[in-house]
Amino acid sequence: MPSRERPSHLLLLLICYCSALRYIHGLENGLAQTPPMGWMPYERFQCTIDCARFPRDCISESLFKRTADLLVSEGYAAVGFQYLIIDDCWMETLRDSITQRLLPARERFPSGMADLSDYIHRRGLKFGIYHDVGEKTCMFLGPGARGHFQLDAQTFADWGVDYVKLDGCYATESERDRGYPAFGKAMNSTGRTMVYSCSWPFYKEKPDYRLIAQHCNLWRFAEDITDSYTSVFKTMEHYRRNQQLLSAHAGPGRWNDPDMLVLGNFRLSYDASRLQLAIWSVIAAPLIMTNDLETVRPEIRELLQNREVIAINQDLLGMPGRCVLTSKYFQVWLRRVTPVNDLGKHSFAVAFVNLGGFDHCPLCPRTIEVGLERLGLDSLTGYYVVDLFNSSRSLGMFKPYDAFSTRINPEGVTFYKFTVVPVY
Ligand SMILES: *[C@@H]1O[C@H](CO)[C@@H](O)[C@H](O)[C@H]1NC(C)=O
Ligand SMILES: *[C@@H]1O[C@H](CO)[C@@H](O)[C@H](O)[C@H]1NC(C)=O
Repeated sequence: MPSRERPSHLLLLLICYCSALRYIHGLENGLAQTPPMGWMPYERFQCTIDCARFPRDCISESLFKRTADLLVSEGYAAVGFQYLIIDDCWMETLRDSITQRLLPARERFPSGMADLSDYIHRRGLKFGIYHDVGEKTCMFLGPGARGHFQLDAQTFADWGVDYVKLDGCYATESERDRGYPAFGKAMNSTGRTMVYSCSWPFYKEKPDYRLIAQHCNLWRFAEDITDSYTSVFKTMEHYRRNQQLLSAHAGPGRWNDPDMLVLGNFRLSYDASRLQLAIWSVIAAPLIMTNDLETVRPEIRELLQNREVIAINQDLLGMPGRCVLTSKYFQVWLRRVTPVNDLGKHSFAVAFVNLGGFDHCPLCPRTIEVGLERLGLDSLTGYYVVDLFNSSRSLGMFKPYDAFSTRINPEGVTFYKFTVVPVY
């Protein structure tokens, strides 16, 4: 990789978005050219397996069929949520004694995985599944892939799987370091393209993201998320503290995965819901919901289906953004996006966060004012500004020497697109 230099006209906090990105080679399966979007049960439904007592919440084919239907009928599929992914707790305890193949839990998946896959595909969606590189899956219910990489990859291909999340429990470090690339090779040799989601870096002290990006389409780098502002913020902090490294290796086909979107459950306020969505879009994170689509409140569904915000997440430049200003009170996060003008100046998505750290009334709305040039928005042609959470709200034109001011709710965000003005 060419060495990186900081252009002196940018604030020190801003680290250059290098053209070096272009020279990094990722996994060449042609998939995940933008961050994957979809749904996974884990944070919401955990490892609920007692269908007699919890028929609506248990990990079963009826949960996935119901969700497939709702992804389509409630409008999620139309805005891009296409991967319906089974997480842990889908397996029988033992492999088939003759073929050694993995078996779905008979009582909860009576029709079998090929049938479920077909059901999902017929709705225009894609089918994802969970596995583990080691001896057992993380919830210790099913067998891991140890000793059966080729057979398990082939089983998934036979079932029409489009996405594999490979966890790393019950494996040694060296087993994981060998196993993640090897399972990827096994998937590749089936001839079926499958998105490859690795939990590899989560288990490592000092992950080698350059190496991981060569083998995986996305990788979990932080703790499991839970349904709270605290957890969302902790994940943001994890990214921010490592952002130079994390953003350097992500791009089309290879993404940092900060875990699921918890919008639509119990504990996130409306403002914190906007916050998670905005930051996940700035850092080009996969947008994988975990919720009960039948009970998501209309205003949260509207957030999840906000096409302007999704367009930032899915921006084709694939350049992950970062936090460029931070204090006890505010953060400013920024991502370079299309369009780019003839002078090579980018447009930007900018998220202003109110951390609520004020001495008097920590949980009050607060106003931040910043000079745009200070954020690196230096195009002399100026920027046309729109509120991404309300696209009918245009704020007009701004030049680099203008100050931009925005009032932000506590533990919330305002999120704008600064579209660069073309050169005439
Ligand atoms: C397998 O890997 C090769 C080389 O990276 C790639 O060209 C091909 O598309 C891959 N095939 C599948 C099915 O992922
Ligand atoms: C969106 O912005 C318009 C124009 O400023 C405003 O009239 C409208 O109330 C806003 N809608 C929402 C949901 O905030």
